[in-house]
Amino acid sequence: MNKNLRPFHTFHLSVTANKVIPVHTPSELIDEWQKANQANQPVLLLGQGSNILFVENFAGTVLINQLKGIQHTEDEDFHYLNVAGGENWHELVKWTLTQNIMGLENLALIPGCVGSAPIQNIGAYGVEFEKACEFVEVINLHSGETLKLSNEQCQFGYRESIFKHEYKDDYAIISVGLKLAKQWQPTLTYGSLTQFDPTTVTAQQIFDEVCAIRSAKLPNPDQFGNAGSFFKNPIITFAKFSDLLTAYPTIPHYPQADGNVKIPAGWLIDQCQLKGYQIGGAAVHTQQALVLINKDNATAKDVIQLAKTVRQKVREKFGIEIHPEVRFIGKSGEINSEEITR
Ligand code: FAD
Ligand code: EPU
Repeated sequence: MNKNLRPFHTFHLSVTANKVIPVHTPSELIDEWQKANQANQPVLLLGQGSNILFVENFAGTVLINQLKGIQHTEDEDFHYLNVAGGENWHELVKWTLTQNIMGLENLALIPGCVGSAPIQNIGAYGVEFEKACEFVEVINLHSGETLKLSNEQCQFGYRESIFKHEYKDDYAIISVGLKLAKQWQPTLTYGSLTQFDPTTVTAQQIFDEVCAIRSAKLPNPDQFGNAGSFFKNPIITFAKFSDLLTAYPTIPHYPQADGNVKIPAGWLIDQCQLKGYQIGGAAVHTQQALVLINKDNATAKDVIQLAKTVRQKVREKFGIEIHPEVRFIGKSGEINSEEITR
């Protein structure tokens, strides 16, 4: 049986899998995963497919995370949420605000499932998932054993966590625990959020502003398929940054705690005059150069070729290597995005 995967990933490329099966409980997840495994069929668990690129047809079973449920408890100082992995992230953010629970508003409108949020430690507008995370619960897909990893054990970093490494294969995230302080402090460090007065701003105002900026800059995947930022922002040494600053005095930059400096890849790509640049049906988005879009029935080959060209131009002009953020999926599982776009 061939099933079109176009609706199950936000790049909306026309690729197929042998089967697509929604899973509603951890035991359904284990059963389906083990069935595929025993039949020597590749198997892939997806949330909403908003951070992946299928580079070819998937020769196995795709499981869709539909684990649902939110439990809320509180004490004098904190709200505690235990959220099933298949809940929608943005719906969760909206729901918290209706319950007067603050702290997730900067992360509004990020597509995807709650259970996918820890994997790349989703971040936007000055806040990362790790700030709210108390624990992440995973299940061992071979044994069915569950375990809870504390915030520290998750080894969160910029678009990084242990779920891209030791817990990548053979485990699935089934729920996350969030801990949100009742004494709310707004985060107003990023862009137009700095205009707000920290003593009077509400979480709803931040939510509305973040939704407005995101809607203006980022393409709606239902209009032009995409997976958000295609590349990570590179982190370079201070010495390299000093050289760049001489040549480009207005370069946007974010100093890091270790002395290195993060540079927006979107700016680097934009400086290479690549906005709107197109290969086949794939193009660099005109509002935000960090986003590659499926402009007109793109194939995976078009997207890969475009990503290669973008990396090459940035390397030639700035001597900086940019690395894909999007995860690449081949016929039997994840492949090395770095090598295929070099
Ligand atoms: P998927 O794409 O379905 O899965 C991603 C990977 O994780 C796959 O390899 C999958 O196999 C694996 N996986 C999925 N679920 C599980 C699980 N339960 N257990 C174990 N492995 C699993 N990201 C940001 O950080 N900040 C942003 O501002 C942002 N903006 C975006 C804007 C747009 C328009 C788009 C399309 C994407 C954006 N992203 C952003 C990227 C994306 O939203 C996040 O990476 C999100 O967390 C992906 O969730 P998902 O459910 O779609 O994951
Ligand atoms: N810029 C340009 N030209 C462009 C794009 C950006 O000059 O085409 C400049 C902007 O003017 C700004 C700077 O680059 O000075 C940063 O741009 P922006 O605020 O749009 O954010 P970003 O660094 O491109 C990152 C995340 C986004 C996140 C936003 C907001 C990464 C890889 N991307 O983008 O996350 O939403 O900040 O915090 O870190 C994602 O991961 O998929 C994603 C969308």
